[in-house]
Amino acid sequence: MTRPADLIDALNGTFGRHKGYRASHAKGFAVQGRFIPLSEAPEVAIPALRTELPIAARFSVGGGKPNMSDKSPSVRGIGLTIGDADLNWSMALISAPVFFANSAEQFRAFLAARVPDSELGGPNLEKVKAFNAAHPNTVPHQEFLKTTPPCLCYSTEAYHSGHAYQFETPIGTISARIFLDPEAGRVGLTDDEKANLSDDFLYDTFLQKLGAEVARWTLKLVVANPGDDLQDPTTPWQGTHSEISLGTVQIEQADTSEAGQTRVFDPTHMPKGVMAPQDNIFALRSPAYAVSAARRAD
Ligand code: HEM
Repeated sequence: MTRPADLIDALNGTFGRHKGYRASHAKGFAVQGRFIPLSEAPEVAIPALRTELPIAARFSVGGGKPNMSDKSPSVRGIGLTIGDADLNWSMALISAPVFFANSAEQFRAFLAARVPDSELGGPNLEKVKAFNAAHPNTVPHQEFLKTTPPCLCYSTEAYHSGHAYQFETPIGTISARIFLDPEAGRVGLTDDEKANLSDDFLYDTFLQKLGAEVARWTLKLVVANPGDDLQDPTTPWQGTHSEISLGTVQIEQADTSEAGQTRVFDPTHMPKGVMAPQDNIFALRSPAYAVSAARRAD
């Protein structure tokens, strides 16, 4: 059986262990803002989201290396806590619509196939190919990253849960994936920008934006159609889906406090009306994030 520490060992095995940093999404920075509910009550009954609430968030580049390039073809992430200590909804979402693994074993095998080879100076592509052939469900995540240029700014990125949560509504329980839809639209880097920007451009670009205006996303639920896979966050949902907007996530300023830098976004913190995804990955996250947080000090 996989222990939470085994998952962190797998991340450290591929990316190295870096004191003071998260085992995954090591490079990032904290921000603050507000959640602004819709003026009309949304169709979904999440009582916690009916008032304006503080937001603590962190934007990040996927992977466990603190010096990852902001141009690297990995995911971008947002850790988001809506509310305060008494009542909060925490989530950590990524720019790919689906995740790269659907079980603890697959998470470890995915990373093991990418451990840098000392002679090649990077992952052994034969091992990656063999992993992909044996685990075709993990390919849509990789295909998305291959075909989607990294974002120009964290504010021009869309973020997804992969997991299907359940939500209580007046018409019964619905299943939905979470989607943060950027007001500015999704904008990827052009080849020129890739060539000319520094490897650390994302912080400056975002702070420049916040100097002039706020950054906004609509927090949406993408409602599952009959037949959509609710148990596998690696499986894309095909076709059109109805969406329910819950309100606006508005990011206003950088947060350079110690609390901002070290905050853990534990996705098991959910308000009344939101219920945990029923897949084989979700329950692994909270204990794994706790091990990562404890190891940051070592
Ligand atoms: C077995 C499943 C997973 C494991 C073991 C795992 C592991 C981790 C770890 C160790 C961290 C750093 C935690 C910390 O030190 O605070 C992290 C952060 C993060 N993870 Fe996961 N993860 C998993 C699944 C997911 C999924 C499904 C998503 C989204 C679709 C996701 C998105 C993120 C994001 C956005 C962050 C950065 C949060 C921050 O800024 O602190 N992870 N993950």
